[in-house]
Order: sequence, then C-alpha cells, then structure tokens
Amino acid sequence: MSSVRLPDTVDLLARARTVHAAIDAADGIAPLWLATAGKGGAGKSVLSGTLARILARRGHQVLAVDSDPMPGMSHSLGVTEPAVPALLAAAEKPEGAPWRLRRGIGPARVVRDFTTPAPDGVRLLQLGKADKDGLAPVMGAFHAFLHVVHRIGDPPSLRRWTIVGDLPAGPRHPGAGISAYARLYVVLVEPTSQSALTARRILRLAREHLGADVLVVASKVADTEGRERLERLLGEAADLEIPADPAVQDAERRGLAVIDAAPDCAAVRAVQRLADVIEARRVRAA
Ligand SMILES: Nc1ncnc2c1ncn2[C@@H]1O[C@H](COP(=O)(O)OP(=O)(O)OP(=O)(O)O)[C@@H](O)[C@H]1O
Ligand SMILES: [Mg+2]
Repeated sequence: MSSVRLPDTVDLLARARTVHAAIDAADGIAPLWLATAGKGGAGKSVLSGTLARILARRGHQVLAVDSDPMPGMSHSLGVTEPAVPALLAAAEKPEGAPWRLRRGIGPARVVRDFTTPAPDGVRLLQLGKADKDGLAPVMGAFHAFLHVVHRIGDPPSLRRWTIVGDLPAGPRHPGAGISAYARLYVVLVEPTSQSALTARRILRLAREHLGADVLVVASKVADTEGRERLERLLGEAADLEIPADPAVQDAERRGLAVIDAAPDCAAVRAVQRLADVIEARRVRAA
C-alpha cells in the first residue's frame, strides 16, 4: 500500500472552520453540511440516503458523501453502484510517489465528473467499497476521496452545495477528520445501552471538541417504553424520532430505496420532518 501524508485532524478542523467563516461572511447563509453518525446498524444509511433525496426535491444541490467502505447509502439513494468506483479514474500514482489526484483535477471537477448520478439530481461521492481483497483494489479512490472531502469548501462553486454524509459506525470517525466539513451531526440512537453509549460519545465529541451543531434522532423506536428507555440511557431526550417501520426492510428486500418503494411510509415521513427541522435551523443560523 502506498503511503500518503494526510493532514492532521486539528489542521483539518481549523481549515474547515476558516472555510465556514468565509462562506458565512460572504453569503450570510450557512451552508448545510451534515453527517450522520451512530452505532452500527442504527439506521444511518437509510436516513442519510433518504434525507439527501428529500433535500434535493426541495431544491438543494446535494452531494451525498458515502464514507463507509461497506455498502449502504447507495441502496437508500436508489443507485446501482458501478463495479469500479467512478472516483478511481480521478487518481494516479506516479512511480515512487504517493497517490494523488490527476493533474488538472480538483474537488469541483471530481464532484462534477467523478461522482455517481443518483435520482433527483443527487451526486454520490463514494469512498470505494471493500471486497474480498479489502480496500487494495480501490486505494486510488480512497485517497482521492480523502483529498476531496478535506478540501470540499475550497472551490467557491461547491460552497452552495448541500452535503449529506454517511459515516462508518462508531464514535471514532467523526473525530478523525473524515467529516471535518460537517457543521451538523445527526446522531442516531436506538433504545439499547450500546447504541446510547456510542451516541453519548459522539455527542460529547461533536459538542465539546468539534464545535458542531447536533440533532439527536431516536431510531427504530417501537413504543413509549422504547422512547422512555432511550431517554434514560442517553441522559437526554431526542430531538426527533424515526419509528421502527416494516416498510424500510421490505424496500431493502426488494432492492429499492424506501423513498421510491414506500414514499408515504412512516419512516420517510419522519425523515421529511427531520428535513423541516434542519432547514428551519439553517434559516435561524443565517
Ligand atoms: N426506521 C427503520 N425501521 C425498521 N428498520 C430499519 C429502520 N431504519 C433502518 N432499518 C434497518 O436496519 C438495518 C440497518 O440500517 P442501516 O444500514 O441504515 O444502518 P447503518 O447505521 O447505516 O448501519 P452500518 O453501521 O452497518 O452502516 C437495515 O436492515 C435497515 O433496513
Ligand atoms: Mg451504513
């Protein structure tokens, strides 16, 4: 595996803050750059893909950022993943040097030409998927991905895009710079002690160290007992709730995005309410 010197997380966060401040000063409107986080299986990919589609239908130009080497967000977006990630063609590895973006290619060009088109005009930027050989076959895509997410705010043409990121499971990734762009973390939590523990760690990290806004989403809540248990385990009430909805698994079995298979189901309606809250907060922030 080639080595590449990645910027330090502290540098990345400082850089992201500078970009955020520059955009706010220029436009007076905060860009909507968010990432979903939470324990494995909490519902991050279903939520982020559905939210990306809903925001796109409301007029946002959406970049869906799938940072998980396991498949997920493409299903809920309704995209068939190309066998080879589009991003791979944007990278090169000169003899004896680390991977880099090909000459003349920067973040704006990558978003335009090396992302996968999804329904409703969403563009999907993918890390590249691990297969039986691990990440080795897509190492170029992996490095190009990091290069782009770390510099996403540099080109003015990308600053008006809405970003919806899907992070890998667990509390480590939000602090590792992979989502330095995020101004808002949507933290999903199920009513179990492990899920609540992971969510508490992410919330503390986001609030105290990343200086990001957070929204707590109770996921797959079935009843009042579940709601109360979750609040007890988490030590705070959720801002919103996505109910346990059989339509989600039914869509998954049929290989369809839930927003296409069951556009009016309870889970999709809950994500619409989440979009309302996110948009309202954004106006307040402006
Ligand atoms: N609201 C819901 N109701 C019922 N089932 C759900 C709901 N949301 C997600 N699921 C199911 O839970 C499983 C995990 O969902 P999803 O893949 O979105 O989680 P994830 O947090 O992205 O997981 P991972 O950490 O593995 O990436 C899937 O089988 C999905 O169909
Ligand atoms: Mg996932």
